[in-house]
Amino acid sequence: MAKKLLSGIQPSGTIHIGNYFGAMKQFVDLQDSYDSYVFIADLHAITTIQNREELSNNILNVALDYLGCGLDPKKVCLFKQSDLMEVTELAWYFNCITTMPYLERATAYKDAYQKAKEVNVGLFDYPILMAADILIQDADVVPVGADQKQHVEYARDTAQKFNNIYGETFKLPEPLILKNMAIIPGVDGRKMSKSYKNTIPLFGTDEEIKKAVMKIVTDSKTPEESKDPDTCNIFALHKLFLDVEELKYLRERYVKGGLSYKESKEMLLDEILKLIKPMRERREMYAKDIDSVKEILANGAKKAKIIVAEKMNIIRDRVGVKI
Ligand code: ADP
Ligand code: TRP
Repeated sequence: MAKKLLSGIQPSGTIHIGNYFGAMKQFVDLQDSYDSYVFIADLHAITTIQNREELSNNILNVALDYLGCGLDPKKVCLFKQSDLMEVTELAWYFNCITTMPYLERATAYKDAYQKAKEVNVGLFDYPILMAADILIQDADVVPVGADQKQHVEYARDTAQKFNNIYGETFKLPEPLILKNMAIIPGVDGRKMSKSYKNTIPLFGTDEEIKKAVMKIVTDSKTPEESKDPDTCNIFALHKLFLDVEELKYLRERYVKGGLSYKESKEMLLDEILKLIKPMRERREMYAKDIDSVKEILANGAKKAKIIVAEKMNIIRDRVGVKI
């Protein structure tokens, strides 16, 4: 039987090319070889978005992004996290076997705490809800970008802890992280992230994408000067699009001098738009029929519900609430 893949993305803002290359592309590339479950982590997004309109728009947008990228609803079970309330029930059981110092060690929490001392309980508990997402489905692999590695480790730890207390119940999931796609840099050279405002939007308009690309930070070398591809933020992004030969040629042009950063950016813009064009067309097609998108999510939830309800029966029995 095919191994089970599960992953999700929060509807917490506009999807960018870091999300695509770090996570979504893997979902698409692997949909034929795994029994795939891909969801919209809307409950996670409430830790940061407490605006009804914004959240529901974002949810539909992520659904369209998934479909636009090429996830085929005939192959992948696509659903929205909040349609499986069993996940929050399981998160509660996990909460009761998890200690505060253990969650305090999570990098995402530490970062959030540093930025704003007032961290909500949902954000603090984020890894446990994520562990519930993964473990309730008996997922074998979880494709994510490198920043989510620790969360998958939390899921493994939590599975082990539960298994030790209540008996063998959960599988230990493996993260799937592509080596050269682990951390896609943003236009300022830091990790591309919604929260740093340094993104290139995946489904932006040509103008939006152009604006982001032209903002990529470089040093002030003149066109004639020799440039170092290994420290250039534009070159780092070319790596996502060019094959080995093309990269070798571009590298030579960098070192030789005569290639301006502007020209390198224009080349990159062409590469991005070429990738996005067919995805954008597919996305627009689905956007014309939002009812069918909602139906895809509802059907996905129905399918996933059968699996998690069965698992929940076992879990309730192990915990002792089923009498
Ligand atoms: P963001 O940091 O923009 O808020 P999310 O945390 O919503 O992104 O990430 C969604 C998915 O995309 C996760 O699997 C994450 O690991 C991946 N991802 C996000 N940013 C990057 C990046 N710069 N490089 C590689 N993967 C990324
Ligand atoms: N934390 C993930 C992110 O920020 C989203 C997510 C929630 C997730 N639950 C998950 C990813 C389960 C993989 C598996 O992108």
